[in-house]
Amino acid sequence: MASPITAIIGTGSYAPAKILTNADLTKIVDTSEEWIINRTGIRERRIAAPDESNSDMAARAGAAALADAGLPPAAIDVIIVATLTPDMPMPSTACFVQHKLGIPVHASCFDLNAACSGFLYALETGCALVESGRYRHALVIGSEKMSTVLDWQDRTTCVLFGDAAGAVVIGRATKPNSGFLGCNLNAKGSVTDILCIPGGGSNLPATPDSVATRQHFIKMKGREVFKLAVRSMEDSAREILEQHHLRPDQISCVIPHQANLRIIELIAENLGIPLERFFINLDRYGNTSAASIPLALDEARRAGRVRAGDTVLMLAFGAGLTYGSALIRL
Ligand code: ACO
Repeated sequence: MASPITAIIGTGSYAPAKILTNADLTKIVDTSEEWIINRTGIRERRIAAPDESNSDMAARAGAAALADAGLPPAAIDVIIVATLTPDMPMPSTACFVQHKLGIPVHASCFDLNAACSGFLYALETGCALVESGRYRHALVIGSEKMSTVLDWQDRTTCVLFGDAAGAVVIGRATKPNSGFLGCNLNAKGSVTDILCIPGGGSNLPATPDSVATRQHFIKMKGREVFKLAVRSMEDSAREILEQHHLRPDQISCVIPHQANLRIIELIAENLGIPLERFFINLDRYGNTSAASIPLALDEARRAGRVRAGDTVLMLAFGAGLTYGSALIRL
């Protein structure tokens, strides 16, 4: 197989200081610490300050990734921010990030929305742009201020999510047989209704009625999403392993979307990859949507859970339903 052309050459992440525990949530909605931990595996999540924007978090993660890559801001030719909670409908969050990081005007900047799968979609896009030879380095960020789209009266969703950002710098691969091996991205547009934010787009612009009926918050059919999440990520994992002639036992570390520990346990069992090889931090952050995988990747690297030579499988699913997988070798 041909040696990879691109590689992740730096990672970074950021999580806001405020911690919201399961005990805190029992004071907001009718829930219990036991229900949340037993049904999801989540113990606490981070919540951004009211004056801390999505692009503030994205810029902090981006700055850390640039420092890790040892690159100045001027080396970045494109910024992609994967998010479903942009600072504003326009301009893009990526433009705010560009200004905050002092990245010069030559860089193209855009946001990408594939919900919780957004980071893998952005990774594929960033790698393709660098592979084209027209962009030297891509700054790919997953960043979410989920606390602003949660209905804090709905116990079935508000206990699940948190705020954070994660980033990677993509550049040319320098080590033989190491780098970005590939992505397998999919979408099932027939099930857009099981996980969505009905209001705020052009179908249902903000009106007093849309606000009163809480249409600007996440609506989710949890059980249906759960079943589809397991099946979709499993299918995508099998497909990408087959495409790259890899067996499950050749995967050193799996970085799954951090939505629910039971989803991860089922995937581990069904794929025959021991759970110990999955990097899990959802107990501390909950589901941070597009930030989930790059945040986990950065933590896994810094904790020494992924090292040079390791083959890493990343798995994602989100509203759409979007889903997919990616393989990298460090
Ligand atoms: N506290 C206490 N009880 C609760 C809570 C809560 N926070 N939430 C739901 N319940 C109750 C329900 O009302 C229900 O009660 P009932 O039996 O009296 O009707 C009971 O618990 C069981 O509810 P289920 O929905 O069947 O619970 P389940 O075991 O399926 O767990 C969960 C719910 C955690 C949401 C699970 O379905 C799940 O994780 N689904 C996937 C969600 C997901 O990953 N979403 C992210 C997608 S990524 C993106 O793009 C944003």
